[in-house]
Amino acid sequence: MKRSVPETAQTPITAATRYCAVYGQPIRHSASPPMQNAGFSALGLDWRYLAFEVPPAELSAAITGAKAMRFLGLNLTVPHKLLAVDLVDLLDDSAKEWGTVNTIRFEGHDGAGVLRPLAELSDGSAGPILARGFNTDAEAIVRSIREDLDLPLSGVRVLLLGAGGAGRTAALKLASAGVKSLHLVNRTPARAVEVAEAVTRRFPRVPVEVGYPTGPVELVLNATSVGLATGDGLPFDERQFSLSRAGAAYDMVYRQAETPFLRSARLAGCRVANGLGMLLYQGARALEIWSGREAPVAVMRDALKQAIYGGRSGPAYDGRLQLPGLASQPPAEPGVAS
Ligand code: ATR
Repeated sequence: MKRSVPETAQTPITAATRYCAVYGQPIRHSASPPMQNAGFSALGLDWRYLAFEVPPAELSAAITGAKAMRFLGLNLTVPHKLLAVDLVDLLDDSAKEWGTVNTIRFEGHDGAGVLRPLAELSDGSAGPILARGFNTDAEAIVRSIREDLDLPLSGVRVLLLGAGGAGRTAALKLASAGVKSLHLVNRTPARAVEVAEAVTRRFPRVPVEVGYPTGPVELVLNATSVGLATGDGLPFDERQFSLSRAGAAYDMVYRQAETPFLRSARLAGCRVANGLGMLLYQGARALEIWSGREAPVAVMRDALKQAIYGGRSGPAYDGRLQLPGLASQPPAEPGVAS
């Protein structure tokens, strides 16, 4: 599958070209390079975005190396997001709030001694380079649900499937966005109980229950990894919940354009969207953090779609609002997020 931005769309690499990168392990599946390079190009930036397979034991050295080479910024994906909290020099409030770092901006001091993003310091920096850690994942969850499903989150009832890392962040972020109620379901119920307790501690006014709702919900959100592999079934128990009781369904999985969960939801009459928007918005925010400019979201979305679904036969799936009755989606490919 072709995953690159055509070189003709970008200025040639020269000695003046600046770099950002994503570190992860594994990393070869990442769709971030085509997305970010398309964004850089659309903004006319002489920047490139690279991907490096970095083992956790070498994350510290890799961040130090990026500083030494005056990279502008980094993204971090599995398994580095938690580790990075202790490896950066400064934490933005977003990273403090969510306890993980998926974006680093390198900063240096200008001639007047003011700390500024390296992208603003064309002639280098006096003194040490500092790494500032941000979290752009949490905000991307709610932005994608709001925009791709056209669903305002305040006042909605939510059934959240999954209580791993992604489920936990989603539960807390949804509670902070003012949902009316949260039902949490997880294969291992104890993890759902633990997440429910964490939500109640931080957002005591949001009613949280572990288990399936008995009435209707406006949103069912899949935050489990069920749907990543071809042949996966549904992430919930159909004897205990029917999608006909849901208004909209969101699946964090995006490598399979239409998971069995989204297909069932679409056939049940739900509005549906997959997790492509989460990947898009976390990346768009990272680009804004590095550059100080508004991200060209439409261009980045097109590049992502091309990178992830481009080689397929059938209609391209854009991960956005899909109304019931649309043609079936491209065939599945297992994959993981980032
Ligand atoms: P992530 O960071 O992506 O959330 P994770 O922390 O490993 O990854 O969480 C994976 C989630 O998918 C968990 O909710 C997990 O349920 P358990 O807590 O019971 O492990 C869920 N999950 C994974 N495989 C599953 C399966 N076959 N059926 C149901 N849930 C599954």
